[in-house]
Amino acid sequence: MANSSSGESVAERIARILETFDAERSVQTPSEIARRAGLPSSTAHRLVTELVGTGLLDRDADGRVRLGMHLWEVAQRGSRALRLREAALPFMELVHARVREHIQLAVLEQGEALFLERLSDARAVSNITRIAGRLPLHASSSGLVLLAFADDELRERVLARPLPAVTADTVTDPGRLRELLARIRQEGIVVARGFVEPVSTGVAVPIRQRGRVIAALSVVLPRESPTAGAVEELRRAAAGISRRLDEPAE
Ligand code: PHB
Repeated sequence: MANSSSGESVAERIARILETFDAERSVQTPSEIARRAGLPSSTAHRLVTELVGTGLLDRDADGRVRLGMHLWEVAQRGSRALRLREAALPFMELVHARVREHIQLAVLEQGEALFLERLSDARAVSNITRIAGRLPLHASSSGLVLLAFADDELRERVLARPLPAVTADTVTDPGRLRELLARIRQEGIVVARGFVEPVSTGVAVPIRQRGRVIAALSVVLPRESPTAGAVEELRRAAAGISRRLDEPAE
């Protein structure tokens, strides 16, 4: 792909434009996009027009721009996330029917836990996870499971960098975190009481495909809730999802 005078490829610039959008900034003017993407205004305007032409961005009557439905369509089609969500959803619904709180499905993505799906009860405790949102590996229950079963290299990289405290209960000491990760590998479960929010407890288990951990399934409960019932439901659901994932694709 052709490079600009700054040495950045067109693909990198397009990625920067798309990444200026998030849940709080779903509609922007091309000038706002240029500023947030750190691109010259003329470049941003030209690329935005081209992206509108392909349907990857949509432009409204006022000239404001949002992510196009076509972008969602191509991103879903054939993606690893779609197969995983489809395999997981029936089991997540079963957990949800019995544990009327939040149920989440997460994968490891660029050193963070990325949430692909979430089911919530209207009266459930506070929960800061968002679909397509991320949480730090060392702080969230899903992240801890993903980190425990990640490659040694990634685990060592995370243990070597600063581990910010999200709450007073987040494990920030590398030695303690190493012990916690070893326990998670042994027991196949983590109960993270107050690590992300003081009011809640995350409980997470690994989901395996052909024996390899590829995702985490978690529930977020009120901090002092008993966890045994949720643990049992999560384990049962994770085993069901793994069975589905190991079936030959249609
Ligand atoms: C967790 O996974 O530990 C977790 C996530 C979101 C919350 C609380 C806990 O709001």
